[in-house]
Amino acid sequence: MIHLTDKIAIVTGAGSGIGAAIAVCFAEAGARVYVADCNEIAALETVQTIEHKGGWARSHLVDIAQHSACDSLIQRVLLENNQRCDVLVNNAGVGHVGTILTTDPSDLERLWQINLRGAYFLSRAVLPSMIAQQSGSIIHLASIAGVMGMEARFAYTITKHAVVGMTRAMAMDHGTTGVRINCICPGRVQTPFVAARLRESPDPAEYLRQMEAPHAMKRMAEPFEIASAALYLASDASSFVTGSAMVVDGGYTAGK
Ligand SMILES: NC(=O)c1ccc[n+]([C@@H]2O[C@H](COP(=O)([O-])OP(=O)(O)OC[C@H]3O[C@@H](n4cnc5c(N)ncnc54)[C@H](O)[C@@H]3O)[C@@H](O)[C@H]2O)c1
Repeated sequence: MIHLTDKIAIVTGAGSGIGAAIAVCFAEAGARVYVADCNEIAALETVQTIEHKGGWARSHLVDIAQHSACDSLIQRVLLENNQRCDVLVNNAGVGHVGTILTTDPSDLERLWQINLRGAYFLSRAVLPSMIAQQSGSIIHLASIAGVMGMEARFAYTITKHAVVGMTRAMAMDHGTTGVRINCICPGRVQTPFVAARLRESPDPAEYLRQMEAPHAMKRMAEPFEIASAALYLASDASSFVTGSAMVVDGGYTAGK
């Protein structure tokens, strides 16, 4: 049985979608979870869900694009837990639709700041304490766009490839410290963001078919199916796993 009993975990972007599912899953597995998000109300809703199920959670308002805000989050967690943090999930991320010709420099900069630099700031701030305790798990949310090119996702593909690269570089540099660093590469996941795009589409049924079709399983993932992978990577069950880009994609990349 995989568990996270008494582990201290931070999940960014935990107010919605995959991050919320990870936070709830970790709390159910026994972790004390810091629900970090730039949307305070959404973060509080996740905390309420966890507490309703009998778990422990605290919300933390953070814009991970801000270096000082990332440092403050890690400082708070270490201060409240005797300098201990066991798991960091760098989940917060944003998408963008466009080719190189339709992606403005400001779009590229925004995705770079949130999808890559936020994870860099937080990992850099938490790593010394994990090295000192000789254990820890850092999990980045990449995407299948981190291991393959995706049409009209120019900025997103660049940043997610960088997340996979950061995972591998960190794993090589810190492989003997007891800290493991991995990333998850989901296919399409049924999150509020995807649901909203479906509703706005002029032909929702056709849009849904297009979203599902590239997966061998001909469906999107539910957020809990990504949370299960995060639970494995956070737990001691994955003690020999570091530097991996774990594809959880219903077979999306299998045929590429
Ligand atoms: N949904 C998918 O199909 C899919 C597929 C592959 C990878 N991913 C990745 O998984 C992660 C989560 O995706 P999701 O679909 O659950 O997203 P979502 O939009 O449902 O939730 C993202 C959360 O991150 C928060 N957030 C955004 N910017 C932030 C910032 N600067 N600081 C702090 N919090 C911030 C939002 O408030 C929101 O609560 C992202 O990194 C995304 O790229 C998603």
